[in-house]
Amino acid sequence: MKRFIAIVTLIIFCAGLFLAFGLTNSNAASKKQVTITYVRGKDETQATNKILQEFMKKNPDIKVIFKENPSDTGQNHDQLVTVLSAGGSDIDVFDMDVIWPAEFAQAGYTLPLDRFIKRDKINLNDYIKGTIDAARFKGQMWAFPRFIDAGVLYYRKDIVPQNELPKTWDDLIKVAKKYKGKNGTKYGFLMQAKQYEGLVCDAIEYIASYGGRVVDESGNIVVYNQGTIDGLNMMRKVITSGIVPPNINTFTEVETHTAFINGLSVFARNWPYMWAMINSPQSKVKGKVGILPLPKGSKGSAACLGGWMVGINKFSKNPEASWRLLKFLVQKEGQKLMAIYNGNVPVYKPLFNDKDVIKANPLIGDKKFVEAILAAVPRPVSPIYPKISDVMQIELSNIVNGKKDVKTAVLDMDKKLKEVVKISK
Ligand code: GLC
Repeated sequence: MKRFIAIVTLIIFCAGLFLAFGLTNSNAASKKQVTITYVRGKDETQATNKILQEFMKKNPDIKVIFKENPSDTGQNHDQLVTVLSAGGSDIDVFDMDVIWPAEFAQAGYTLPLDRFIKRDKINLNDYIKGTIDAARFKGQMWAFPRFIDAGVLYYRKDIVPQNELPKTWDDLIKVAKKYKGKNGTKYGFLMQAKQYEGLVCDAIEYIASYGGRVVDESGNIVVYNQGTIDGLNMMRKVITSGIVPPNINTFTEVETHTAFINGLSVFARNWPYMWAMINSPQSKVKGKVGILPLPKGSKGSAACLGGWMVGINKFSKNPEASWRLLKFLVQKEGQKLMAIYNGNVPVYKPLFNDKDVIKANPLIGDKKFVEAILAAVPRPVSPIYPKISDVMQIELSNIVNGKKDVKTAVLDMDKKLKEVVKISK
């Protein structure tokens, strides 16, 4: 009997111990695992899923829900602003276009990152300086850069002979006309001419290649100048020369890459990410494409500066877990996965010498290409950038659609931009 009581006592004791530990452990696990939401524009590749899986494997106490916003940066912006301006906490971490930090900082949508950066001893010198500067506003960092973009010209190596590669916009028109229709192509050239942010980027390239500009160093509107008029006249000439699709005014980056990887065009203007699409399994032009700087105007070739950063919602309920995800996205591993699977140009400098990155995207190892990207022309930096862009989009669209002659559209743009800036002061 004594033995029986002893055994029963032991069993009860063990069961108690088991229960107590089990409970504490599961409590700890459920207490410890936090769920955060990450939002970015549509990812056409597998890059984001791969990165998030890697992150969750290494950080089992954090579960990340991935939500995609539209790929159009303007629509993406408006959806984010709807949540952020209402102080919502449904979003924790989100990607930000280079044109947003000033606005988001001013509106107080994102958490300043300086204390995290300092605490975790992130060396900002490892990153391309211009992109770090672009994330700063009034002395604080409101986002952290992920990759840098600049417009480039893609061409079909199997169609255009090396000695006919275009150097100027006029060359482009001539060569695109000559080879349009070869090897199954339907169009000579593709660009982004829908009324949206991408049109502003394309237009900046034409404008800057003729020495024009929108704002001066002090932020004054100076868009009504000969360079702007010459550049936009060239844009109109390209659009009306019979080399672009008749519905080019509906083209964003998505229509561009879809048509190009289906083998429908000889040339295309797009960002570096299209390289990854060209080499993806669904592409019909793998191995048939080369990249060139954009054609020159009277003042040389100019690429528009683009790129994306990542920030934390000021009202996130989990800033610490959010910071850990942000850190993973912007440090070596996250940037490397983006460069390999999404074709993006990293901003973390050591990756420019990384063998795997260069193998996936040889351009990243090409000094001249990197220099050209670093020399890209920024869009106006301003907390009211969306308003500036809206005005530009409307007037540029008038030019694309032939509703106004270039000079009148530029004059109107100048007048309206000055009004917008004046009201905001
Ligand atoms: C790319 C650029 C971004 C730009 C957008 C326009 O995503 O990185 O800066 O605003 O294209 O469509």
